[in-house]
Order: sequence, then structure tokens, then C-alpha cells
Amino acid sequence: MGVSGVGKSTIGSLLSKELSIPFFDGDDYHPQHNILKMSKGKPLNDNDRLGWLQTLNQLAITELKNKGAVIVCSALKEDYRTILSNTIKNDVKWVYLSGSYELIKNRINDRKGHFMNSDLLQSQFNTLEEPKNAIKVNISLTPNTIVQVIRKQLENTAEFGLFGLGVMGKSLSRNLARKGFKISLFNRHVDGKEVYVAKNFKNEYKELANALPFDAIAPFVNSLQKPRKIMLMVNAGNIVDQVIKDLLPYLEEGDILIDGGNSNYNKTKERFTYLASKQIHFIGAGVSGGEEGALKGPSIMPGGNKKAYKQVQPYLEAIAAKDANNLPCCTHIGTEGSGHFVKMVHNGIEYVEMQLLAEVFFILKAMGNNPDQIATILNDWKKTANSYLLEITIDILRKKDNDDWLVNKIMDKAGNKGTGNWTTIATAELGIPSTMVASALFARYISFFKEDRVAANLHFKPTTPHNLNLTNNELLQAYQFARIINHYQGFRLIDEASTRYNWGLNLSELARIWTNGCIIRSDFMSSLVTTFKSTNNILTSKPIIEQINTLKPSAKKIVAECVLNEIPIPNFSEAINFLIGFATASSSANLLQAQRDYFGAHTYQRIDDNTNKFYHTNWTNN
Ligand code: 6PG
Repeated sequence: MGVSGVGKSTIGSLLSKELSIPFFDGDDYHPQHNILKMSKGKPLNDNDRLGWLQTLNQLAITELKNKGAVIVCSALKEDYRTILSNTIKNDVKWVYLSGSYELIKNRINDRKGHFMNSDLLQSQFNTLEEPKNAIKVNISLTPNTIVQVIRKQLENTAEFGLFGLGVMGKSLSRNLARKGFKISLFNRHVDGKEVYVAKNFKNEYKELANALPFDAIAPFVNSLQKPRKIMLMVNAGNIVDQVIKDLLPYLEEGDILIDGGNSNYNKTKERFTYLASKQIHFIGAGVSGGEEGALKGPSIMPGGNKKAYKQVQPYLEAIAAKDANNLPCCTHIGTEGSGHFVKMVHNGIEYVEMQLLAEVFFILKAMGNNPDQIATILNDWKKTANSYLLEITIDILRKKDNDDWLVNKIMDKAGNKGTGNWTTIATAELGIPSTMVASALFARYISFFKEDRVAANLHFKPTTPHNLNLTNNELLQAYQFARIINHYQGFRLIDEASTRYNWGLNLSELARIWTNGCIIRSDFMSSLVTTFKSTNNILTSKPIIEQINTLKPSAKKIVAECVLNEIPIPNFSEAINFLIGFATASSSANLLQAQRDYFGAHTYQRIDDNTNKFYHTNWTNN
């Protein structure tokens, strides 16, 4: 396509020879009345063009059943191109021959017997709506070079695009390439800071030999086969919206964007709806496993339209970790923001698992163990309570830094990027008492007030040295107890969101995709795959009830001993308090209701009246 005089017929027929496919000149397909009109020097209107464009569309459809063809047509407007590619949008590849007004005018006037008046050429330029999704070639090159440029670009297509080459983006790209996928890589260009990132990255790794690197959006998008599949690996937050805005002009109906960052699920829902209004699919995919997981096999939690998922399934499932039965740790979670919701709760569970290990470390330290000795004790726990986080904690504790252990030299201020905060907000909003994530989050917040803590220590420090009456086995039992409560609370939150938002989530399947690749993989998680097959509430599972009753005495003892010795154990304490509260059939909430009714006439129900009737008492009137 391109304006008159740009050389469409010449280039088109050369290209058809080069590709060994038939050539058709669109002008040969005008109906009689168009030819008559043009011969009288009258311009065609859109109505005249409609039937002709439809004919060319039919021609393309027919040729596609065979080897395809090169068809030339000025196709100056987007509307014309829409008609020309009707029903075959994904199979049409546009080639846009572009040149300056001056160059084209001179060329036409140089041709023997040709003359085009300047106004007519100018009107073509005025009509021209440059395509965003075309191979654009400048006609100042020689015809043979033009054909070679087109051929190269036609052949150089990729099936999957990676947008953003940070740590995770790079690892996922290498993972995809190692699985044999042809990928396109994009990283923005920032003067002096991010220069040729994609190109340099491609040159760094053998497996990326076939990858196509870009630092400009248009050629990146156009290098992708349709419908385009682009995974965004950019930081969560406003930058995701900015990237969507930058990509949108180049995307077409049916293209698929996957957000692989830790985005807030509410934002994902908004983006899903916004992009659906533009006929673009949006998949919010939680990706867990860190840099190594991304490279060797992460756990992936994609949420969005099921049909769209089907189209990216082969890629995501190929790069995902595999479970014990060699099934991918990736499954369609549900619609809209469900993938990111589930990843958010994954991180909430992760916060608690980490906090519990930090508390265990602190207790064992208070019992007189050095990091190496603690590592040895924890190594023994692998037999009954193994997990990825336990394993990495052992490695961390063994790491030396000159004369001391590295962990002793690390500032005790824990950061966070928001997912624990969102999980706490979600649990409060949904009215679910997932208390452990809140306490793990606030433990991080407390840690951050280092200076205040040092000051408070002067006023409130313990008066007596630690004297913990505990065994390692009791600590292990308390740890196992608290982990059960953590998993109960995390899955309970997911189950509630599933009901509330109609996501139809399958907890057993979720536990399954968390058995490998992700940060919270553990032997306990593997056992939950079976538990969730018969109940969504693990506190009703017979083996778990038995386990809790066996472990509970140790949980109580640890908390009591630590409180007496002023050792902070917010998560252990939360776990036992939660269970005690949850298992209290008649609680103190009767008094709360009475108080509410007293000052606010909020009413209450009576245990001796099962009609659900609400009562109000005038409390000050005797
Ligand atoms: C994962 C991790 C990962 C990341 C978290 C850390 O599943 O691979 O959860 O997503 O490490 O964002 O979160 P914080 O910075 O809040 O601890």
C-alpha cells in the first residue's frame, strides 16, 4: 500500500517473485462504473470503493487457502484496510511504501507518458492515514533492497513478546527461548541509562540467538504474529498504565497483554475492563519464584478471559515449574483480577512463613545457639516440616562474612513492596480474620522504627536475662502449628473472595500450582492438594484436627515462655490466640453487643430466641 506513484506494482511483482507467490494489482479489479468514472477524471468516493475493496478482500481470502499472494492497492485509509482484511486480520501483513511528496512527484514526472498533477498527489497525501501495524519501507532504497528488507521483516516474526527486561523479564525471556519459542524482546531506551538493553541482552546469551531485540515500540509490536501476545514485566503501579497507553495505538482487536508483575488486583480488574472495551484481552498473571524461578520454572497464576488464556497457555505452561506428576504449576485461575488476588494472598502466606522463621531464629538465638547451630537444628526439621523458605533460611544462617555470620551484620529493618499490605486490606474488607498476615506485616513495620526501638529499649528493656524453658522439639511443634493456621487463614481468604466475586476458584488446584516453583512451596502445601479435594476448610479435616490437637500444647508453651522472657513472637502468639478464639463456642462478644446497644442502639440477638429477632434495651432505665 501507499500513495500513487510510490512504486507499488514494481515492488509488488518483484516481491511476489522473491516469495514465489502470485501477484495481483488491485487496480485490475475495479468494476466498470469505477473505470468509467476515473476515465472521466472524476475521483472515486468511499461508496464507489466499497464493492471493489470487498472484491479484493475475497481475492485475499481465496489466495490464503493456497499459498497466499501479494496484492497491491493504495489502501490509504484505515477503514479501507479494515475492509480489505475483513475476517483475515491475523493473516494479513501490510507493507507500507513511504516516500516524500517531492520524491514521488519527481519520480512520476520522470516516467515516460506519466504526469500527475500536484493537487492530485497532494490530495492523496491528505487522505493517507499511515498504518501503525505495517512493515514500513522507505522508497529511496533500490527496488531490490526494498524487496530484501520486506522479506527479512516478513520472515522475522516472533510468537511471543517480552516487554521490560529487568531481572524477572530477562529470566522469563531466557526460559521461553530455552523452550524453543521465537520471542521478541523490548526494553525502552533512556539516554545514558538504558541503551541497547535488548540488543546487548540478546548478545549475552546463546539461547537468545533467534530472539528479536527492540528499543522502539512500533517494530517490536509489528514483529509479533497475530493475535499478538505480549507479557509486560514492568514494575507494578502507574507504569503499567503508561505502558498500556504506549502500546495501545499499535495493538489490534484480539491481541493479548499479560501483566506478569505484582499488580494490585483491583487495578487489574480496572485494566481488564478498560482493555476489554478496546477488544484487547488482558491477563493479570501472578508469577512467583524470584529470579531463579523465572529462569528455571516459576509458578504462574494467570487470571482473565478463559479463551484468551487458551492462546497463551502453551507458552506459560511450557515455562512453568512442574509438579510431582509433571503437570505445569500454572493454571487458569479465574476471571478479571483473580490471578493477581491469588498471587497477593500467596505473598501474604509468604510474609507469615518468613516471619515465623524469623521468630524461630530469635528464640533459638535466645536459647544460646549461634547461626550455625540454628542451621543444624533447622536442617533436622526438614524431615517433618520442609519448605523452600526453610531451606533458604538454613543457607542464609550458614553464610559467613569474615569473622562473623553475615546475618548478624544485616540491619534489622525489613522492607516490603505492598502485597502484604494489600492482603491485610483485603482480609479486612472481606471481613475475614486472616490475622497472621496483619501481624507479620506489622512486625515488618515495627522493625522499620529502628531508632525508636533503640530508644525504647533504654526504658523498657527486660530486667532479667533470658531463661527459656523450651525444647527444640516443642519449638518445631509450635512452628508446625502456626503454619497450619497460616495456611488455613490464607486459603480461607481466597475462598471468600472466590464466593464474593464469583470466581469459582479451585483451592486444590491452587495448592497444586504452589507445590513447585513458588516461594511458599513446601511439603505441607503438597499435602493440602489432597486435603482441599474434600473440604475448603482445612480446620474440618480429620488428620489436621488431630495434628492441631497434638501440636497445640507446644504452641501455648512457646508463647507463654516467650512472653515471660520478653521475646517478641507476634506471629506465634497470633496463631494460638486465633485458634483459641475460633474454638471458643461462647465468646465475650455478648458484652460488645451490649455496649454497642447501650451507646448506639445497635440492637442484639438473644441466645434464648432462635427467630433471629433483634432486641434493644434501654440500659439506663431500671
Ligand atoms: C515471589 C515473591 C516476589 C517478591 C515479593 C517480595 O513470589 O516470587 O513474592 O513476588 O519477592 O514482591 O515482596 P516484599 O518486597 O513485599 O517482601
